Amino acid sequence: MKKTLTSAARLNNGIEMPYLGLGVYLAGPGSGTENAVQYAFEAGYRHIDTASLYGNEREVGRAVRNSRIPREEIFITTKLWNSDHGYNRTITACEESLRELNLPYIDLYLIHWPVENLRNETWEAMIALQKDGKCRAIGVSNYTIRHLEELLADSPVVPAVNQVEFSPFLYQKDLLDFCRSHGIQLEAYSPLTRGKKLNHPAITSIAARYGKTSAQIMIRWSLEHEIVVIPKSANKRRIYENADVFDFEITHEDLALLDSLNKDCRFDWDPSGAP
Ligand SMILES: NC(=O)c1ccc[n+]([C@@H]2O[C@H](COP(=O)([O-])OP(=O)(O)OC[C@H]3O[C@@H](n4cnc5c(N)ncnc54)[C@H](OP(=O)(O)O)[C@@H]3O)[C@@H](O)[C@H]2O)c1
Repeated sequence: MKKTLTSAARLNNGIEMPYLGLGVYLAGPGSGTENAVQYAFEAGYRHIDTASLYGNEREVGRAVRNSRIPREEIFITTKLWNSDHGYNRTITACEESLRELNLPYIDLYLIHWPVENLRNETWEAMIALQKDGKCRAIGVSNYTIRHLEELLADSPVVPAVNQVEFSPFLYQKDLLDFCRSHGIQLEAYSPLTRGKKLNHPAITSIAARYGKTSAQIMIRWSLEHEIVVIPKSANKRRIYENADVFDFEITHEDLALLDSLNKDCRFDWDPSGAP
């Protein structure tokens, strides 16, 4: 499907979320994150993924304001950390994130991790925050099908997004199908396997055939599956490289080949054990 750098997924509450964003986990202290976000805006990105855990919401917010790009043209995601679950704590944590970002609203506020016992109460607070205009959309992260079923049984408000680890080496097709059938947009984190699989021979040989890099093939693979994708880089050249994925399409044959690389291979925590 034809896409451009500003192509957006329409979430279940009607708001639009650009398919490609910049992840800023470990983008660096001081000016590291701010520079990365600035390079991303120069390259045409309009979507940034941060979290209170990353400790760089302030730098993200500063880069947004300094860019002079109208706020409504930029999509900012941040996340509620585990120690902030529970109704009142969630409200306070969101207000704290808004203060750190120094922005009037968050586009997408996510529960970072399905914390036992408290997550449904937390979801109630997320709904209140959205009603209050503090965030335009709410969602979850690291939710398995089991966690989603529990939430859906408890609440009439369906998460707009589920952000999970996802790559050709962790092709969670059942989760993708489940999300799709419930109107939940899947979003891929660690889409480059943190760089660990970029030299896999199947990826490098496909990349060579398309005249693209391994990273570009892995990002394009997510886009071909209609998945929002947030590769992280703090390096100007690689930030531009990761956005240069809209001038080609992967054939059905090569997509099937990439799909077949799945080895349930994770580089982050596995949430399937989260009670
Ligand atoms: N919800 C969650 O629990 C969760 C968990 C993890 C991540 N995330 C989000 O997802 C984002 C992305 O995931 P991630 O940071 O774990 O991993 P990733 O995007 O898969 O990989 C990032 C690594 O790849 C390198 N890299 C980037 N572009 C490259 C390229 N074109 N060629 C070669 N190497 C390249 C980066 O180094 P350089 O910076 O030096 O380029 C960095 O070391 C995070 O930043 C964060 O926003 C969310």
